[in-house]
Amino acid sequence: MTGTQERAERPPEDSVLVLPRYLREPAGRRTPVGYAEYRSTALRAPLRAPVDLPHRLTEITGPVLGEDRVRPEDADLTLRNGGEAVGQRILVFGRVLDSDGRPVPDALVEIWQANASGRYRHVVDTFPAPLDPHFDGLGRVVTDSLGRYEFMTVKPGAYPWGNHHNAWRPAHIHFSLFGRAFTQRLVTQMYFPDDPLFGQDPIFNSIPAAARYRAISRYDLERTQDNWALAFQWDIVLRGRDQTPFETEDDGDVA
Ligand SMILES: [Fe+2]
Repeated sequence: MTGTQERAERPPEDSVLVLPRYLREPAGRRTPVGYAEYRSTALRAPLRAPVDLPHRLTEITGPVLGEDRVRPEDADLTLRNGGEAVGQRILVFGRVLDSDGRPVPDALVEIWQANASGRYRHVVDTFPAPLDPHFDGLGRVVTDSLGRYEFMTVKPGAYPWGNHHNAWRPAHIHFSLFGRAFTQRLVTQMYFPDDPLFGQDPIFNSIPAAARYRAISRYDLERTQDNWALAFQWDIVLRGRDQTPFETEDDGDVA
């Protein structure tokens, strides 16, 4: 879920373009796209090793996101269709950081999740748990100048998913992030501390063991709101922060 960045040396001439370059994550630290115990990956995981494409100007600049399209109410999933969602209110907050620990401002953070009963508002979800007319499970924000984001939502329920007998997904929230470049796109899941379902969940366990803790949020008493909502903090690390390229004479292919 993270990458690292190595900056190219800046040539002595001011007129040349220097682009950041990203280190490739070693295979052993990548979450595999195919994982035998996660059965459906057998049909959709590539059979051949992926080809790493070079990072040219297109890959390390943009996307330019229209912040004006994101409304403040998009960050509060508990108020939809004129009413309040059912469930335990939670504040989910954190920072988006690059691999050097610097905040990533203006990153688009989108989430989707099941409702408190463990049901998605989606046509293929046939789990016989009730839908909530006041919960659609969708939210989005743009990080502020310090890379911060926060959502008010309800804690998602666990749900069965048919991977094996009595298979239940631990409670989780899906995240999609667009950083400052297409190569900073990240799609991942946030979990909650001490979930008893971790041990039997192949999706969670497909994450290399040493990195699993990074997918689990932290309960935060200080941000918990008295008489209103529990708080969970989760920082997200993207690969190295891009920056405005310096001009150069080469074609920008730094891979
Ligand atoms: Fe899910």
